[in-house]
Formats: sequence, structure tokens, C-alpha cells
Amino acid sequence: MEKDKVMPGADRGNNYRVYRTDDLIVYWDARQCSHAGKCWKNLPQVFRPKERPWVSLTSATPEEVIATVDKCPTDALKYELPEGSKVNPEIAQGMGSIAYKKDETTSIKIKATHSGPLRVEGSVQVFDADGEFIKQSHRIILCGCGRSGNRPFCDGSHASQP
Ligand code: SF4
Ligand code: FES
Repeated sequence: MEKDKVMPGADRGNNYRVYRTDDLIVYWDARQCSHAGKCWKNLPQVFRPKERPWVSLTSATPEEVIATVDKCPTDALKYELPEGSKVNPEIAQGMGSIAYKKDETTSIKIKATHSGPLRVEGSVQVFDADGEFIKQSHRIILCGCGRSGNRPFCDGSHASQP
């Protein structure tokens, strides 16, 4: 079986880790992950938070991984097809694709939750408390509880005991 190739580093900026096979490249940005686990609930054999490397691309088909990354509620997970990939490019155009472009004319949706996180959908620019630009994105989860160690993003701390 083909071995996972893991390259922590700077392919797409300093915060990304990169996981590759010959058919699929997946990027993960810890700073944007809300740790709510949609990915590991959906595909536990691939997204394994207690193991290192925590992403095992060879444990499912690239199509299954793509479908799961498309469901990530933040831009923490993204994918692209490497040259020569056997995956049909038409199924790799969802919200998780690095080439995905949201219609910027639609209004931004912000959805509050009872436990704290604020889910934002739509093209937004995020700035830190000093006014420094952090990033442009089309799906993020902001901290609404004040306990995140990675503000303004939610890092899952709202789920732990105070
Ligand atoms: S934000 Fe995305 S990468 Fe992080 S746990 Fe949720 S689904 Fe997984
Ligand atoms: S809302 Fe998730 S850490 Fe604050």
C-alpha cells in the first residue's frame, strides 16, 4: 500500500500541514480548526486526532476524503489534485477545493450557537485585535465565548469545563 507522505511546512503558508498521495493533496491549518470533529465523525479512519500523523489519506478513497473535506465548517481543511491524479476533477470542485470561489455578491451569514461558536459563511476578511490582517476566507468559526487560545477563531475551548 502506498505510504502517506507528510510534509509539515510552508507549501501554502506557515500554518499549514500538507498530506499527499499521488491522487490527492490535503492541507490542514490548525489555527482555523474548531476541533469540533466533523471530519473525524465522518471519516474516522482518515482523520484520527489521537494519532500522528493525524491524517491518513491512504485509509479511504480520495473521493471519500474530498467529500469529507467539503464538509469542514472552516477553511482548516482544503484539498487539491496533484498533476496526474486519477480523481475526476469534476468531483473536486467543492467548498474544500483550494480553487473554490464563493459568489462574493451574496450576503454574509453569521450563525450563533448556544455553546458559543459563531459560524460565518461568505467572503470575509479577518483582523486581529491590533488591526493586523489575518486572512480572507469564505467559511470560518469565530470564538463567541472568549475562552479560545486562538482568538478570534474558536479552538474548541468552549466545550471544556470553566
Ligand atoms: S474544523 Fe474542519 S479540520 Fe477541524 S475538526 Fe472540524 S472538520 Fe475537522
Ligand atoms: S466559542 Fe469555541 S472557544 Fe470560544
